[in-house]
Amino acid sequence: MLSQLAGHVSDTTPGRGALRTARSWLHSDAPSLSLNGNWRFRLSPTARAAEDFADEGFDDSGWDSIPVPSHWVLQGDGVYGRPIYTNIQFPFPIDPPHVPDENPTGDYRRHFEVPADWSEAERVVLRFDGVESLFRLWVNGDEIGSASGSRLAHEFDVTSSVRPGDNVVAVRVHQWSAASYVEDQDQWWLPGIFRDITLIARPAGGIEDVWLRTGFEEGHGRIETEVTADAAAFPVTLRLPELGIEQVWATAADVAPLDVESVEPWSAEQPRLYEVTVSTAAECVALRTGFRTVEIRGGQFLVNGRRVVFHGVNRHETHPERGRVFDEEHAREDLARMKRFNVNAIRTSHYPPHPRLLDLADELGFWVVLECDLEAHGFDKLDWVGNPSDDPAWREAYLDRIQRTVERDKNHPSIVIWSLGNEAGTGSNLAAMSAWVHARDTGRPVHYEGDHAGEYTDIYSRMYPSVLETERIATEGSRSPLLNCTPAQAARQRTKPFLLCEYAHAMGNGPGALDQYEALAHAHPRLHGGFVWEWRDHGILTTTPDGTPYYAYGGDFGEVVHDGNFVMDGMLLSDDVPTPSLHEYKAVVQPLRFTFDGGDVAIVNLRHSADTSDLRFRWRVEHDGTLVESGDLEVPVLAAGESARVPLPRIPVSQDSETWLTLDAVLAAGTAWAREGHVIATAQLDRSTRRPAPGVRPRTTWRQCDGTLTLGIAEFLDGSLVRLAGRAVTGPRLELFRAPTDNDEAASEGVEESDAGIAGVSNAELWRRDGLDRLTTRRVSVERTADALRTIDKVSAANSALSVMVESLWSLEGDELDLRVEIQPSSGWLTVWPRIGIRLDLPDGAAPVDGAEWFGLGPLESYPDSLRAARTGRFTSTVRDLCVDYARPQETGHRSQLRELTLTSAGTKLLRVVAFPDTHGRRPGFTLSRHTPQQIARAGHPFELPDSTTSHLIIDAAQHGLGSRACGPDVWPDFALRPESRTIRLRIAAG
Ligand code: GAL
Repeated sequence: MLSQLAGHVSDTTPGRGALRTARSWLHSDAPSLSLNGNWRFRLSPTARAAEDFADEGFDDSGWDSIPVPSHWVLQGDGVYGRPIYTNIQFPFPIDPPHVPDENPTGDYRRHFEVPADWSEAERVVLRFDGVESLFRLWVNGDEIGSASGSRLAHEFDVTSSVRPGDNVVAVRVHQWSAASYVEDQDQWWLPGIFRDITLIARPAGGIEDVWLRTGFEEGHGRIETEVTADAAAFPVTLRLPELGIEQVWATAADVAPLDVESVEPWSAEQPRLYEVTVSTAAECVALRTGFRTVEIRGGQFLVNGRRVVFHGVNRHETHPERGRVFDEEHAREDLARMKRFNVNAIRTSHYPPHPRLLDLADELGFWVVLECDLEAHGFDKLDWVGNPSDDPAWREAYLDRIQRTVERDKNHPSIVIWSLGNEAGTGSNLAAMSAWVHARDTGRPVHYEGDHAGEYTDIYSRMYPSVLETERIATEGSRSPLLNCTPAQAARQRTKPFLLCEYAHAMGNGPGALDQYEALAHAHPRLHGGFVWEWRDHGILTTTPDGTPYYAYGGDFGEVVHDGNFVMDGMLLSDDVPTPSLHEYKAVVQPLRFTFDGGDVAIVNLRHSADTSDLRFRWRVEHDGTLVESGDLEVPVLAAGESARVPLPRIPVSQDSETWLTLDAVLAAGTAWAREGHVIATAQLDRSTRRPAPGVRPRTTWRQCDGTLTLGIAEFLDGSLVRLAGRAVTGPRLELFRAPTDNDEAASEGVEESDAGIAGVSNAELWRRDGLDRLTTRRVSVERTADALRTIDKVSAANSALSVMVESLWSLEGDELDLRVEIQPSSGWLTVWPRIGIRLDLPDGAAPVDGAEWFGLGPLESYPDSLRAARTGRFTSTVRDLCVDYARPQETGHRSQLRELTLTSAGTKLLRVVAFPDTHGRRPGFTLSRHTPQQIARAGHPFELPDSTTSHLIIDAAQHGLGSRACGPDVWPDFALRPESRTIRLRIAAG
């Protein structure tokens, strides 16, 4: 008995007794019964609990109740264990195919009624759409079988075990099994029955499966139909009412391709679907089909003859409360949000999603890379020794997985590429999967990133190559090597279309350089864009012991091994809030390019196939951010790929303020995913006349003093500012530190094209080594004239001889306070710096600083390598909203290219700061926050930030870029901040 049990969990085959022929997830009129709902549930700590629960008469009245679908670790507030997060690591000993005896095992039971008229059914089938990781099934005490393949559908023939009236179904689910070794995706381990269970009556003469393979060429469509049905089920009728098609096939041998005239093609931009039914006398199946042809020609990936550029995201199924349990409304809103942010593609990393998601993708319009449920990443630690991907014992499981993947979803026009899985090394089982797909579906290419040498896949794919490497991949005829390729293999790879299946790791604040990758996709036809890692954070909503809610990441549930916040790497926060990176992405991939030239603007339609008839163009002119004129711009309808030069409106130019023209392309009418007026693309033109910064009065009459004086609104004590406009202040002090971002903290790659990093050492570590987070100041001198003050400070850290000299010149210019700060590093600083800024602390007092109005770049935060979403304008925000609630607190809130800032309290203006460009024309940025960089750096979660009684204003002469080093390249050299002398020049006035 014992060995039999052990056998189940260590079995590398995909299970026993499940119907081996996988089939489509069809919308059929055959009777079915959802078994979702409350089930009786018992959790055992090992796989060895007695099996008597499967008996019909077993008394489960003492058991708990649990909803199906759900993950048991997300039910009962910890009663059934907790989630575990690992990226690559296996959370159990690497002892394949075995798993430990400590193997949480959930037993489920419920009764169900089989309607009396189901006795007419030829067969009764029980379908499971997702169970993690291995389950066994009993119906009325009969053992039916077992299955693994957590995010795949498994059907069992239960005809001989069910009866009309009351029945009992029992399911035993093991959290760990041999299958866990090939389901090592970077996500939470979430056991349980997490997708639907359905009982299906299969009628005699029904349609077992149907596949509509469609094609499109120059206005003509084609449908090749594959019907799986008994001979007796014929005749079979295909109806496409919209096109007046009714095709009856008398026998299976008659089924033939249909040529369809005058159809509109399906594309991600114009997801034209046609309703089709396929029926026999006994069953009718409804499908929505789209006409499109996918092909690779001349090294390019084409749909309907036109090159596709993927502006994609990697999408995991994750929800802060439900985990991987599908919620259609939430998923639809997520997809609509993707559309609003110009995302046109989804890679279903790293498993098939709930089947409904693909209906939504067909309907809303996405190019989908559908990935099989497969990842064996933990074998990397063993240099891939024992990798299931190359072990014959696993071949059946690998083939079973890809067959279930392709068969379930083959009807979806949105799926344009099949992907074998992720990070499973390489080996003959993957090659066998690919061969099976090629034989089964000649209409879609096969992708698998791990096939570096291109031995069995059709697309060259990589994750996280640097910008330079991506460019090298694109360069025809280049002799430069490719990763893990011989020269001949590299040559072969360079004949294929190239995809960044993952790039731009969006962990925390970042990534930078999105625009550089995008520019490459436009410059090189073989580069087809890619998929940002990843769409959303996987935080799990939980509470601290005192009841404060927060989004948990790895380690928060006391896991033995975990990978911390590496699971929080989405462009969307766990609570659905888009991060600035998503706005940046939207701007970078916008489907229109604007080039201003004299009095004209050239507009290019970069779309795949849609014209611009759905868009309206609006313009507005602002003087220092204040609207002066606006109107509509007449732009002819541009076909995909077309461009036009359009004269700009007359722009009223101001002599004493900045003049900016903004052009927006907006939706002319509402769509399924956005309202009328939604902005699709934006461009700005600076028409300002240049004005020099006011000069500084040179002074020669300096004399040493005690530093106590009043200059207009400023009061100084011992040379230090103590009050501004009547309120207490501290500072300004030099601030070189920023709370390290996840990219700053990472030590992975990144030295290739940046002189910033040191291999294996994070920038944050170097900053802490050099003491940037704990600078101290020595006042060197204080001097004054009647209306000016000069201080010189030497700033340095404990046990370091490196220093920065800071000269501050305060003067009165008219009744305004002028501050000029010269910042000059000593020689010997070797690392990049996070920032060069000055910090002013503003204690709350009676009127806390709680808001800001500014003219500069906004509305969201921006950094040197992430500036495309930012526009020049006038903005307002609360202090709170200036900062992003990254799951792990870190640098946030920097607004670049500041001209003017007003600090407010409950709407009342307190202080006005005008910032001047330096002699190179570089403008400072600002950050206004309730916490100092040092406080933020100490907090692991937002709830760990201390209560604050002060607002902190930092004016930065410069900030370091963001990069993508959390998983990928460091900051590009042009955006890396090297220690250097800088000047900050401000004018400060009361409210
Ligand atoms: C990739 C992997 C993803 C994710 C990402 C980092 O290597 O395919 O699943 O782990 O790195 O977040």
